[in-house]
Amino acid sequence: MSNPAERVSLKPESIAGGVMSLNRLIDPMRVFVRASGAYMWDDTGKKYIDYHAAFAPYLLGHADEDVNQAVIDSIRRNESLMGAGTTPWEHEIADLLVDAVPYLEQVQLTNSGTEAVAFSVRLARAATERNDIVFMQGGYNGWMDSVAFNLMDPAAAFTNHQSGDEHSLRPISAGMHAFTPQGAHAVEYNDRDAVQAVVETGKVAAVIVEPVLQNIGIVKPLPGYLEFLRELCSAHGTLLIFDEVKTGFRHALGGYQSICKVAPDLSVFGKAAANGYPLGVVGGKAEYMAFCCHPDPSRRVLIAGTYNAHPFVVAAATATVRKLKSRGEEIYTHLEQLGERMESGLKSLFSSMDYPTTIVRVGSAFVVYFMDHEPTNWADIARSNDAERDVRYRKALIENGVFHFPVTTKQGSISFAHSKADIDETLSITEDVLKRLD
Ligand SMILES: Cc1ncc(COP(=O)(O)O)c(C=O)c1O
Repeated sequence: MSNPAERVSLKPESIAGGVMSLNRLIDPMRVFVRASGAYMWDDTGKKYIDYHAAFAPYLLGHADEDVNQAVIDSIRRNESLMGAGTTPWEHEIADLLVDAVPYLEQVQLTNSGTEAVAFSVRLARAATERNDIVFMQGGYNGWMDSVAFNLMDPAAAFTNHQSGDEHSLRPISAGMHAFTPQGAHAVEYNDRDAVQAVVETGKVAAVIVEPVLQNIGIVKPLPGYLEFLRELCSAHGTLLIFDEVKTGFRHALGGYQSICKVAPDLSVFGKAAANGYPLGVVGGKAEYMAFCCHPDPSRRVLIAGTYNAHPFVVAAATATVRKLKSRGEEIYTHLEQLGERMESGLKSLFSSMDYPTTIVRVGSAFVVYFMDHEPTNWADIARSNDAERDVRYRKALIENGVFHFPVTTKQGSISFAHSKADIDETLSITEDVLKRLD
């Protein structure tokens, strides 16, 4: 692909904060104009091997031809948004999803992961007739008020925290304090006693958990932890919600639930499910999903979105899931091989550095922690990870044409479009960067 410099003139004052979606703010600012496969280009014509993948949806790579073609075909067939009745294409994607993911009996679609989480929380509250929600410190479940707490808090927040304790609530946004719902509970991931103490109150509608925490790098469940959550929730009439927005489709067509074989009551997907097109999926047991059409209107959970199941997004999701299904072995083998190559290459490069690093990986998702052990929760990372060196490392990589999001612990995502040569070039650039990284 030719990449002429495409300097564009911008009027930053027209956008509040200068960038749409303020989580995309980077320093120094860059203007991106195009992306294809494993690469993206900025407006100076500079090319980057991309491991950010727009916060991870691009499992097949940017501008995947099959996915884009499906969208173009849908447009050409005049598959417009009707906003009344049903469509053949929404049935097709629903069937594909239910078929692909083991614990989905029924689904509904939204436009984002945040909306999908919101709906799952409402379903859980309606089904259990309880209010409380438990979520994980260091987990991210979208930006809505009921779960937007306790993400990457500083080490000082954990000074008096003991294993088994619930955390104080720390909103991740201003403007929601007044609405802080009673009954929101943050506990440490992998801390069985903490979650047990809250769930045993009998007031908890749902425990929502990313089965692998992937918004703070890669933090894996300790052996038996997800099974423990399942048993605990079942014993106390609490729903277990897996937030698979990051793990879903990236690690397997059937989501992380197909790997860990723990059955959530509800699960939420997004990101890789439509390879970069705006989709959220909520699904799970029919007895809970049925609350969206409960015969008693006072128990009915509203799901309504002008753009839900938009035909172009559905076309993208259908093409993505079909491709992951028909070429699954080839795709996931390739992703695993590249992940392994990246992991072993990074381990070997960092082994000669005089500061500690730990590389953690699940399949095509990886992270370098600047600490001497694999973390099991965010407090551990906040205390031990050298966040400043991490950011210096990321910025130096970006300068040299390898794009990782320049915020500490953000996940690296390899796509099916990456090649062995891309990984080798990345490692060679990394080697160079490490010579100068202090
Ligand atoms: C695990 C998880 N849940 C939910 C969300 C929210 O999804 P969206 O950004 O599509 O609203 C994200 C986004 O990063 C996520 O990583």
